[in-house]
Amino acid sequence: LMLAGIKNILIIVNKGQLNQFKKILPEKNNFGVNLYYKEQLKPRGLPDAFILGEKFIGKDNVALILGDNFFYGQSLSQSLKKNTKFKNGAKIYLHQVKNPQLYGVAILKNRKVVKIVEKPKKNLSNLAVTGLYFFDKNVVSLSKELQISKRKELEITDLLNKYIKKNKLKVDFIGRGGTWLDTGNIQDYYNATNYISAIENRQGLKIACLEEIAFKQGWIKKSDIIRAIKFYGNCDYSNYLKNLI
Ligand code: G1P
Repeated sequence: LMLAGIKNILIIVNKGQLNQFKKILPEKNNFGVNLYYKEQLKPRGLPDAFILGEKFIGKDNVALILGDNFFYGQSLSQSLKKNTKFKNGAKIYLHQVKNPQLYGVAILKNRKVVKIVEKPKKNLSNLAVTGLYFFDKNVVSLSKELQISKRKELEITDLLNKYIKKNKLKVDFIGRGGTWLDTGNIQDYYNATNYISAIENRQGLKIACLEEIAFKQGWIKKSDIIRAIKFYGNCDYSNYLKNLI
């Protein structure tokens, strides 16, 4: 989100997790962004984020990213930046996967989405809806209209189908040269870690070094990086930050 130029970020955490998160990512941070927190007391589904975030969103358009999703790819930042300007409708990213039954999938006709189906048992499409969404300001009121599903949650798929009905859902693709990984269970987490480690070791560049992103965006100064180096102490990450300045 920072690469997309988004500076106001609301982090929604499970009940009881506020303190752990605030310790790692304090509201008073060195990343030049405004972080806010909200606790979700019950797992009521993804659209609940827009209900919990009503005040935070106000009259703005908004992006939602799931905490266990990893995105990586050439020109992804440019695409995200463009989508932050998208104010009328919703925009999602699709990516081909081998196991579409684990996700919401998009059924397309002439490159236009006609329907999204949550975790289909039959093979309807191998294009998964990734956990990165852009919505216009109507998302809050539309989320409030949703009914609880069979798995006792508000479903992002139902929300997206509302946008389809209004002819207001657009899609972008993360093509085969781009990467979308889960990090929600331990095996997925290992896979993502190996992927990140291979690229970081090859390039000598870090993926998602938040100080680096903020510095390159012009949101923080050299003195902020020096402060971060002091905070992290003598380690590989600090050496990387030293090289930046
Ligand atoms: C959720 C959404 C699903 C989407 C997926 C992406 O699934 O309901 O449509 O494809 O995130 O990670 P869940 O995490 O609830 O299984």
